[in-house]
Amino acid sequence: MTTVTAAPELDAVLAKYERKRQYLIPILQDVQDELKYLSEDAIHQVADYLGLSANDVFGVATFYTQFRFIPPGRHHIKVCQGTACHVRGSGLIIEEMARTLHIAPGETTDDREYSLERVACYGSCALAPVVIVDDRVHGRMDAKKTTEIIERIS
Ligand code: FES
Repeated sequence: MTTVTAAPELDAVLAKYERKRQYLIPILQDVQDELKYLSEDAIHQVADYLGLSANDVFGVATFYTQFRFIPPGRHHIKVCQGTACHVRGSGLIIEEMARTLHIAPGETTDDREYSLERVACYGSCALAPVVIVDDRVHGRMDAKKTTEIIERIS
């Protein structure tokens, strides 16, 4: 049996919503805003609140790429994989970042310094390919420029 540790900071998040399944996605979005990811305990807490199984909640959450299940690193690198960025080589950027950081997209380095994430169109297609490092948008990027940014923030 899994031991669940309720996160008191989530009580306020959950209290904003009626206990109805239709609020599952907004609740998960709020929980992720609060914790920066969806921990196993948080998933159980949400499931308990809505009267669902943790498997149901996890199944829904994993369907959407917006949800993270591991804590992000101190530096969060997002590489846009929308169409405009993709055709201008964002796939090569994410491959190179994965090689440099020794993690796959969606993972965080063991020292919790960096996390790498693929994101859908960031709304800055004119600047494609776009890389977002710690919420700062960098346009017309390539793997070399992205590596240089990572070296600068290290
Ligand atoms: S496709 Fe990358 S910003 Fe739109």
